[in-house]
Amino acid sequence: MPNRPKISVIGGGNVGASCAMWAAQKELGDIVVVDIPDAEQRIQGRLLDLAQCSPIERFDANITATSDYTHIADSDVVVVTAGLPRKPGMSRDDLIETNVKIVKSVSENIKQHAPDAVVILVSNPLDAMVYTAWKTTGFATNQIVGQAGCLDVARFKTFIAMETGFSVEDINALLLGGHGDTMVPLPRYTNIAGIPVTKFIDEARLNEIVDRAKVGGGEIVKLMGTSAYLAPAAGTIDMVEAIVRDKKRILPCASYCDGEFGINGLFVGVPTLLGAGGVEKVIEIDLNDDEQKLMDASRDHVAELVEVVTKMFPELA
Ligand code: NAI
Ligand code: 2OP
Repeated sequence: MPNRPKISVIGGGNVGASCAMWAAQKELGDIVVVDIPDAEQRIQGRLLDLAQCSPIERFDANITATSDYTHIADSDVVVVTAGLPRKPGMSRDDLIETNVKIVKSVSENIKQHAPDAVVILVSNPLDAMVYTAWKTTGFATNQIVGQAGCLDVARFKTFIAMETGFSVEDINALLLGGHGDTMVPLPRYTNIAGIPVTKFIDEARLNEIVDRAKVGGGEIVKLMGTSAYLAPAAGTIDMVEAIVRDKKRILPCASYCDGEFGINGLFVGVPTLLGAGGVEKVIEIDLNDDEQKLMDASRDHVAELVEVVTKMFPELA
């Protein structure tokens, strides 16, 4: 058997199947997708379709679709996408009760079958799900991380590229906070090929772009009737790649904060050094008073979500 990294994805719906696709295309390792028994046949079809891309896209990967968690043993990374997506008119927070139950049961299985894996949460409401997985598994904080910032910052960069006509490759941006309308894009830390973005976009227009990025998920839900999946999966697989290839990337991830940015004991979106050890460091940067106020508001929203979780499920307190 080839000695490749092993990437497991729990939930083989739109985001999960797209994670499998990006991971295969990047040839990051062998892929296992786990779903509930009722969905197993559909997922098997979806992944067989993906496997049949391999001669064309030229990737080698064993791809398994199953409802049996024993297949996730020895995973390097487990990505959790199991759970309901939102429908038009719903906020991410409306999903909390159903998705906590799902993520709790998934986390119990990860704890049993893949205790050494780095776990990346994607299910929404993201900040509450990272907390749920952490409490349920009891894993170290470097082993648990959430995907939101990679997607949110990609949306911000895309809108800047659409506005200026410059290549997305030259756009650098930073975004902090929770995965919700309180996320904190930081124009002050945004540049195009090292040149401050304000040279190309005036403040009023930049604020409109910031606002569009903040509600970027909702824009897609309105258009499609369900939530986005290609970009969310691409953001997730950027994180997986950083871990399995030990790239030491600095990516905006929902990571455990132990005093950084004035946040204690919560997983919130912060610049995170990702490598083979999972979350290897949270990188603190200077915020001005206005930015810190936005970060405080975002932290408070995450804390409220966690409080809702612990009221509904006291065992997670
Ligand atoms: P989907 O409905 O297409 O897929 C969800 C899958 O989870 C289904 O295949 C379902 O059978 C499976 N599932 C349900 N209960 C399960 C369990 N107990 N064990 C294993 N699998 C189970 O939904 P989609 O669009 O893939 O979204 C998945 C989640 O990701 C949603 O909660 C959505 O809100 C969230 N999301 C998060 C993003 C982020 O940036 N953090 C971005 C996009 C979506
Ligand atoms: C998104 O931002 C719904 O969290 C999902 O697209």
